[in-house]
Amino acid sequence: MFEELVDIMVNCRRCAVLTGAGISAESGVPTFRGKEGLWGKFRPEELATMSAFMSNPKIVWEWYNWRRDLMAKVQPNPGHFALGEMEKAFEQFTLITQNVDGLHRQAGSENMLELHGNIHRNKCAECNAAVDGQIEIDPDDIPSCAQCGGSIRPDVVWFGEMLDADIIDAAFDAAQQAELFFSVGTSALVQPAASLPVVAKRAGSTLVEVNMERTPLSDLADFHFCGPSGELLPRLMELFRRRKDGGDGG
Ligand code: OAD
Repeated sequence: MFEELVDIMVNCRRCAVLTGAGISAESGVPTFRGKEGLWGKFRPEELATMSAFMSNPKIVWEWYNWRRDLMAKVQPNPGHFALGEMEKAFEQFTLITQNVDGLHRQAGSENMLELHGNIHRNKCAECNAAVDGQIEIDPDDIPSCAQCGGSIRPDVVWFGEMLDADIIDAAFDAAQQAELFFSVGTSALVQPAASLPVVAKRAGSTLVEVNMERTPLSDLADFHFCGPSGELLPRLMELFRRRKDGGDGG
């Protein structure tokens, strides 16, 4: 099933990967959309916007503390590790993730762009200054910024907020340059991330999608592999390794 893609991989120098919540699903981190998704149970405008934080910071912090606790208990799954291995297989490799859980780094990924921030970090809601270390936040006594006195918030991108310009520019550069682009475990609905595979494809990249279901990207993709990324990506990397080692490639 992967033979044709492995042929392309062995001759590829520049590869980029976009991941979404689906890659962490098998670790036990809930996705956002779909029946069991977070946005089916909670209202994003009450929890993940600046105006929610201004009007009810306690509820917002309780929600992020709940998610932090959940994420602190989970481990990277074989899909994350396969992408960690993939990084070493190409001359140029960029992992672009929409996830804030930090699991890619735990699985060995290094050249990584976290488009939506990282839930384990904090910053000032007023001046954006980063807060050192992974401090715990008491929702009843939210600390203030040492520089300007603003309230401390999680360092994630909320609805209606701009992404870090350097990070999104680097992501679009990687998409433009990629000969091979993977979109893994994302519904491909949220911009600007959803444009990255399209930009890569228009620039001549081979586009591969790995997802449990079809998405708006599927018709554009050269390869659509339907199934869990924690099973499909390790199988792909195993075939790739065997081919590189001079085996038959399966
Ligand atoms: P979604 O919840 O929108 O989509 C998750 C995707 O993963 C779906 O297409 C599922 O079919 C797929 N999926 C689920 N389990 C999978 C598995 N084991 N293997 C492969 N695929 C699987 O999550 P995202 O696309 O990441 O933004 O959502 C994008 C952004 O919307 C998030 O970063 C977040 C959210 O609002 C912010 O917080 C700014």
